[in-house]
Amino acid sequence: MRLALQALAEELRRLKTAGVKNVAVSDASVAELRRVVAGRSSERDARSEAKESATSRPAPVAVAPSPVAPKAAPLRAAAPVSRLPEPPAFTLPAGDKQTRWDALRALVQNDPTCRANVRPGKKVVLGVGAVDAKIMFVGEAPGAEEEIQGEPFVGPAGQLLTKMILGMGLQRAEVYIGNIMNWRPQMPTVDGREQVGNRPPTEDEMRYCLPYLRAQVEIVRPVLLVALGKTALDGLLGFGKFKTLGEARGQWHDFGGTPLMVTYHPSYILREPTNRKKRMIWEDLLKVMERAALPISEKQRGFFLEK
Ligand code: URA
Repeated sequence: MRLALQALAEELRRLKTAGVKNVAVSDASVAELRRVVAGRSSERDARSEAKESATSRPAPVAVAPSPVAPKAAPLRAAAPVSRLPEPPAFTLPAGDKQTRWDALRALVQNDPTCRANVRPGKKVVLGVGAVDAKIMFVGEAPGAEEEIQGEPFVGPAGQLLTKMILGMGLQRAEVYIGNIMNWRPQMPTVDGREQVGNRPPTEDEMRYCLPYLRAQVEIVRPVLLVALGKTALDGLLGFGKFKTLGEARGQWHDFGGTPLMVTYHPSYILREPTNRKKRMIWEDLLKVMERAALPISEKQRGFFLEK
């Protein structure tokens, strides 16, 4: 029990450091934790009373049993991620883009650290799309739907991203879509149920996965990259280089020689789907279209201008 509590405390500390403010815990688990804490303080009280009694009081100390708690669902901590190994070092085989991408995919799918960080039945996720795409989008990390399907951006944010791509006059299959992370950052679940919610990856997690993203950029050699959101910005340009997304958004940056546009994550629009916000993202995407030499109609230039 002591080890389980230590593991839980460590996991909660790690989540707090990662910026997680709330963790869902069932009433039953709270009751179980209370019971354990009550048990431990009774033991402590008993120990100190026993000590005292040894010196001053001859009578034995009666310790009341802790109240019986209802059968509680155990809190299941996620796989430990606090101490990840060094980021992977690898060399891709020579060959055409598809051969190299296939080799990378096999490497990522078999990476023991990636595999250890996904729950049973869930998938490690590598980027998808055209290996000769002009445009590569980079998001944060797989979410619930992505870890089931093994493909980035297939949940609600992904559906919006797909609409944005269509708005640019492209098909989803014509671009490349990747993530900073190859697994869904884990949070503890209650009684082994599905994880509810997502947390941003830690710096350590991002550092671990970055070589895989770099390799995808090297293989695809897109004309440009689009970072979606602050985590993608941090992962690509360095943790802490920008305090806010606003400082970097709408401007061209450089990722190892590839131009990089920074814009909002689609989930930002999902939270508040106003035309003003859509227009902000869209203006960044117009810059992307210009740089990628895509045709732009007057209609496209005017998207989301109306209030
Ligand atoms: N959000 C991301 O950043 N990536 C995904 O793959 C899905 C949602």
